[in-house]
Amino acid sequence: MITCSAPGKVYLFGEHAVVYGENAICCAVELRTKVSVEKSNEIIIESALGCTGLDHKIHPYVSYVIEKMQQFADIKGIRIIIKSELPIGSGLGSSAAVTVASIQALNLLFDCGLSQEDVAKTAHEIERMVQGNASPTDTYVSTMGGVVMIPLKKKLDLIDCPIVVGNTNKFSSTKELVGNVAKLKSEFPCIVEPILSNIGQMSVLAESLVAQGDYETIGKLMNINQGLLDSIGVGSAELSNLVYAARNSGAISAKITGAGGGGCMVALTREDNAEDIAKAIENAGGEAIITKNTEEGVRLESLHG
Ligand code: PMV
Repeated sequence: MITCSAPGKVYLFGEHAVVYGENAICCAVELRTKVSVEKSNEIIIESALGCTGLDHKIHPYVSYVIEKMQQFADIKGIRIIIKSELPIGSGLGSSAAVTVASIQALNLLFDCGLSQEDVAKTAHEIERMVQGNASPTDTYVSTMGGVVMIPLKKKLDLIDCPIVVGNTNKFSSTKELVGNVAKLKSEFPCIVEPILSNIGQMSVLAESLVAQGDYETIGKLMNINQGLLDSIGVGSAELSNLVYAARNSGAISAKITGAGGGGCMVALTREDNAEDIAKAIENAGGEAIITKNTEEGVRLESLHG
């Protein structure tokens, strides 16, 4: 049995603006999805969602991965076990992580010879099959790890402070929110286009701040980014509650991560107050996770279990 894992991600800057070619900064976080694979007589997929065969409703990503990998290897029967630290469908890149980790585990088990670039590309193809118009951000960051400037795919230094994620546990549809922004943009192009380009500009400013480790200034920009995300209608009362709870308890910054509407927010904190901020998020009705960013993308966890 081979086990691989791949990380989730948060956006420090640039969600939604990135859809229109603006810059964004996304970072892999040390919350992982582990996928174990072994040869078997039949196809079995086991996860918190249930135990199925090839099933495009319950396990769409892994089912497409198996079908895709059958093009590279003679995969007849396979048992796949998924264990994830990432909440599903909350903007932390859980679907990218399970897709990337499954591809890499099968790649190693069947000796398919896919490079990391191939894994990222194949994972993006699969996300597009399931979701329609997915950007390559999640699958790229989950494969390569690190802090990445999009769309150039340029690696920046790691952010050396704790990251606290707050989950509203409210479902949000990325497709719907991206559609709402597109509608607002076509209704008020002269208002919304500069907002999106200002969001993009923040990533450009932040690039050198990341290199300098100037998290206070990065935090100020992230808070402005939050205001602009709110202005284009992707906020929600639940997200704002968690954002203000984090800021009021001393976070360096707090903003939505991902599509918004529901899902998650992200806060940068100081080494000594991450716990306080996590508590404040929980008291405000969210689920808090303290994490760090990670240079490591998809990786082999074990060859025997
Ligand atoms: O919520 P997520 O993690 O799917 O992020 C969506 C990010 C958007 O910029 C809103 C859409 C995209 O495809 O980049």
